[in-house]
Amino acid sequence: MKSLFYSRFFILLPWALIVIIVIDIDTKRTSVRDARHVPPPREGGAQGSRRTARTAANRTALPVIYAVTPTYTRAVQKAELTRLSNTFRQVPDFHWIVVEDAGARTELVSRLLARSGVLHTHLHALTPRRYKRSGMPRATEQRNAALGWLRAHRSRRTRGVVFFADDDNTYSLELFEEMRSTRRVSVWPVGLVGGRRYERPLVEKGRVVGWYTGWRADRPFAIDMAGFAVNLQVILANPRAVFKRRGSQPGMQESDFLKQITRVEELEPKAGNCTQVLVWHTRTEKVNLGNEPKRRQDTVLIEV
Ligand SMILES: *[C@@H]1O[C@H](CO)[C@@H](O)[C@H](O)[C@H]1NC(C)=O
Ligand SMILES: *[C@@H]1O[C@H](CO)[C@@H](O)[C@H](O)[C@H]1NC(C)=O
Repeated sequence: MKSLFYSRFFILLPWALIVIIVIDIDTKRTSVRDARHVPPPREGGAQGSRRTARTAANRTALPVIYAVTPTYTRAVQKAELTRLSNTFRQVPDFHWIVVEDAGARTELVSRLLARSGVLHTHLHALTPRRYKRSGMPRATEQRNAALGWLRAHRSRRTRGVVFFADDDNTYSLELFEEMRSTRRVSVWPVGLVGGRRYERPLVEKGRVVGWYTGWRADRPFAIDMAGFAVNLQVILANPRAVFKRRGSQPGMQESDFLKQITRVEELEPKAGNCTQVLVWHTRTEKVNLGNEPKRRQDTVLIEV
């Protein structure tokens, strides 16, 4: 009985070893293949391997649009980010850099990004308490964190366009195709902003010569954050260009930043020489939570 067991065992042993070796070789191959498509570790659970694979196959393809979205926890946050992700998902060669104003990345935003189907990088930067006052420029630390990430993780070889996509705007898909050809800094009109139906750069003979705006027309660049894009190489070639806290007045963030990297004469007008509105500063109405109970009354905890 015992000898029968041993003879069977020794007949099967070599076969078992062969099977194990074959499986091992196969998993190694798969993991190498996957590794090529997995973005660098700091990209924080970046999704969208389909797109990454396409870029890897054709590096001369479209410049990547890096959309920088500062965001913070509030009642409408998930609704706003959902609207944005539904747009961004449809834009090819797109990389969403979401920067939370928080001491750590939140579960809500992490989950939303994981399900968004958009290639993304999830960062956080806390606004110091002394800057959290009305009249202070907002999202400065978050935009600078995104610029820092781009400078640390992207090189001269990457063709890209950087756009500051706040989470309270509405973006048409055409806008992204307009900005994709940005050589240095491009500009276009923005709807529902500055107390007017729209603001726009005034263009003559293909050059920006002034600003149609209802507010502080004396600004060097009288433009909303959603009204311009910058070539990635301009961001990399000007490593000290950042959004400023010190000496910056309210509403001057755009001008203070653009002054560091370009001149009005160099701006590239998009959207039909700045005659079309492709982005709107919609802003969600402040929600009424007047009937929200102080303590949870519902039996389940629901993320909104
Ligand atoms: C890469 O993409 C560009 C632009 O779409 C195209 O013109 C070119 O033929 C592609 N190259 C290869 C090797 O597929
Ligand atoms: C913008 O204006 C310039 C100069 O007048 C002209 O050559 C160009 O074709 C215009 N572009 C568009 C998209 O209308």
